[in-house]
Amino acid sequence: MPRRRLSVSLFRFLLLLATTSTLAHAEDAQPIQPTLLADIDHRPAMSLNGPWHIIVDPYKGGWGAEGKPPGAHGYGADRQPSPDGPLQEYSFVASPTIHVPGDWNTQRPDLFYYEGLLWYERIFDYHPRTHAHTILHVGASNYETHAFVNGVRVCDHVGGFTPFDCEITSAIREGQNSVVIAVDNQRAKEDVPTLKTDWWNYGGLTRDVSVLDVPEQYIDDAWLHLNNDGTIDGEVHVAGEEAGRDVTVRIAELKIDVSAKTDDKGRAHFHLEPAHLERWSPEHPRLYRVEYAAGADRLQDDVGFRTIAVEGDRILLNGKPIFLRGVNIQGEAPFRDGRAYSDADAQTLLGWAKELHCNFVRLAHYPHDERMTRLADRLGILVWSEIPVYWSIDWSNPDTLAVARQQLDAMIHRDHNKASVILWSMSNETPPGPERTAFLRELIAQARKEDPTRLITSAIVTKFHDKTAVLDDPIAPDLDVLGYNEYIGWYMGKPEDAPAYTWEDPLHKPVILSEFGAEAKAGLHGPATRRFTEEYQAAVYQGQFAMFDKMPFLAGLSAWLLMDFRSPTRQLPDIQDGFNRKGLVSDKGVKKQSFSVLQDYYARKQ
Ligand code: GCU
Repeated sequence: MPRRRLSVSLFRFLLLLATTSTLAHAEDAQPIQPTLLADIDHRPAMSLNGPWHIIVDPYKGGWGAEGKPPGAHGYGADRQPSPDGPLQEYSFVASPTIHVPGDWNTQRPDLFYYEGLLWYERIFDYHPRTHAHTILHVGASNYETHAFVNGVRVCDHVGGFTPFDCEITSAIREGQNSVVIAVDNQRAKEDVPTLKTDWWNYGGLTRDVSVLDVPEQYIDDAWLHLNNDGTIDGEVHVAGEEAGRDVTVRIAELKIDVSAKTDDKGRAHFHLEPAHLERWSPEHPRLYRVEYAAGADRLQDDVGFRTIAVEGDRILLNGKPIFLRGVNIQGEAPFRDGRAYSDADAQTLLGWAKELHCNFVRLAHYPHDERMTRLADRLGILVWSEIPVYWSIDWSNPDTLAVARQQLDAMIHRDHNKASVILWSMSNETPPGPERTAFLRELIAQARKEDPTRLITSAIVTKFHDKTAVLDDPIAPDLDVLGYNEYIGWYMGKPEDAPAYTWEDPLHKPVILSEFGAEAKAGLHGPATRRFTEEYQAAVYQGQFAMFDKMPFLAGLSAWLLMDFRSPTRQLPDIQDGFNRKGLVSDKGVKKQSFSVLQDYYARKQ
């Protein structure tokens, strides 16, 4: 039986109190806490995707005289100018539009490099149900977001890659409504991620936006997990914290139809003993339709049941050792520019991973669109999911920790029912140091409390002493699985040097080489000694394979990476042109030699 979990809403409230100070410049107005509903994509909702009017606001004039949130008299009020009315110097209805979901950078050339405040507005008709909550759902918005409905500020949020839900019941009305969302992706030292990243700081409403109604008492969290003994434990949380409410879990295919009562925290606990359960695995990604009911609320989900554990340096899936054949993926769209957000994007990216004979993907370096983890559940691809605690974060700043904790909470809350997700990663390439290690330990403790059923990891820069890898990062003892990044043949040495390197695993924990690879411009050919040619990239992979085959304790691999992606630090003309070219496929979908080189290697390792 997993350890008791901190009550979600209590925890989230504590977090928000802590994060409030992040909105330092909103000190004159308490931020309004968004909430998080479960399985939004399984709830009937009205999509607000499509064209939204925008106002680009580098001087933050839209906040009105205050020049900052709450800006009650600013653009959030969404007033329509009238020729004879009071002076007004903005009008959404007369302003251009861009598409939601989507980043703004790749939709208009003049916004390509834009980092700052941008206002979105949309008018929509709505017929709110009585005795219900109306919720505004945002799949993700980079980075700092403030939402208004009919001029009323309804929620504030920071963090660019996790969903949030705003309670708008008191602001919504029958008929025509206005929603205005201010999004600011200005980078700041105290943010997560911080000032420097090797990916493009795309701004905007990058994932689905919708409005939905849920009953007065509704399910805001539900999870079921398989135990090693084949029984299932689970919990359903009904928002409103009432005791004695009946909750039902029904899994028709397993002839399970059980009820339990909520405790004084609104949680109902379940212990199920299914007969003939088919476990989920990459070879057999079996999902079961689960129906939850509480009062008037109904919620469905498609859930796979599997166990994941470690034993010495082995990762055990359903009790058996598994070798992870993986690739890293950045959240960018294939063939077209910008952030990925569609079913087609997910199908193309995970389709290529399948073609590579991957049974594993690392979604770098932030939670990706939920379509990716949903599809991974259906395709049988194991997932490493990560929060963007990336490179040097402002370790000793409590606001930064609060934001990282909030993102971790939201990542776990959204995907803790996905069988595909086996690893929660706390960070990537963070420089060892006491503040950093203390920071990560806080996150690890939170993740273990929120979800004791998954493995905790981080990607660490591999330190070398001469040609020996020294795996002694102080955070390693706190992790279940160790991710080590290395670029032998690219940032250090030659492709053929790799087999000469020796690796030990002093902690006897499962080790995943979470990044390795080299750059190549698709279509550029030449001697295997010339950088950026496909031949050089392929040579790096060949060298790596010879090294891997000498590392018996290796539990998995994830090559860096599946597809070229935009990065502001990659400026070599006619080669990089603003792209990190370590993809096995170009951003236009052209497969490089290394695609089949890795494909063959993984085919041999199956
Ligand atoms: C780093 C980092 C990635 C980066 C990659 C590279 O290790 O984790 O985000 O893109 O190396 O340099 O290509």
